[in-house]
Amino acid sequence: MLRAASRQWIEDPNAEHGQFPMTSILADACAVLGSITRALAVLLLLFAALHTVARIARHIRKFPMPHFLANVIDNPLRRRIQPPERTALRHGIEPGMTVLEVGPGSGTYTIATARRIGAQGRLVTVDIEPEMIERVKRKAVAEGVSNIEARVADVYGLPFDDKTFDAIYMIAVIGEIPLPEKALAEFHRVLSPSGTLAFSELLMDPDYPCASTLTRLAASAGFRLKEKIGNTFYYTLVFEKNPPAAPPNSGAGLPTGPSQASDTRIATGAGS
Ligand SMILES: C[S@@+](CC[C@H](N)C(=O)[O-])C[C@H]1O[C@@H](n2cnc3c(N)ncnc32)[C@H](O)[C@@H]1O
Repeated sequence: MLRAASRQWIEDPNAEHGQFPMTSILADACAVLGSITRALAVLLLLFAALHTVARIARHIRKFPMPHFLANVIDNPLRRRIQPPERTALRHGIEPGMTVLEVGPGSGTYTIATARRIGAQGRLVTVDIEPEMIERVKRKAVAEGVSNIEARVADVYGLPFDDKTFDAIYMIAVIGEIPLPEKALAEFHRVLSPSGTLAFSELLMDPDYPCASTLTRLAASAGFRLKEKIGNTFYYTLVFEKNPPAAPPNSGAGLPTGPSQASDTRIATGAGS
């Protein structure tokens, strides 16, 4: 790729080669840059093609992510975009809370959340795949975290009483559930009246749902948007339960004071 004049200077810079071949070096640098750009473009196109194929395949048939992929999606790039500690904050997790996590995968976000709620808190994590639950248990022991209860369970039939949890969250899970409406009804049942339901999503996930689709689904299940963080590339949506309908003629439900007060809490923008 390098021209002879540049090669001579690189191999033996002290030899007598005559004038420094600036034009030749510049041309070589441009050629190298061009090759790198082309390689990056090919990689990007390859990723986009694979992603599209995976999205179409996942649209036709949904199934839980195989457990051996848990380590693949738990990578440094992912942790930069969705840092575990910051993600717990985005989900509104506070010390002492009773929290339900759905679909922990490798358990990285489970550990961060368990540390956030502290010894007074309780974190229950459920996954349909027993291997995932075993991974989480091993990780909790290795990290010295003892306030995690990891159980095999399906979102369609959560083994908990009504109104058990202060917060429910899931990361890159709802998109791979074939009947999200059924899952949302369960979340509504086990969430306390003042509790929150949070979803974090990443565009790289072949099951990534649009924020507007998820908001519509959640609204149909009796939730309303409380907070939105992020952008199209990654986002977190936090919902709260709609208040119970006011009895007829109670006067409640009519606009009072400055209207749309809840809308002002909707925060949009990157980061948290
Ligand atoms: C793409 S992984 C995400 C893992 C982890 N939350 C993360 O972001 O790294 C989806 C997880 O949801 C779990 N899952 C899928 N369907 C489920 C269901 N019906 N009930 C409970 N867990 C389910 C899968 O087993 C898997 O652990």
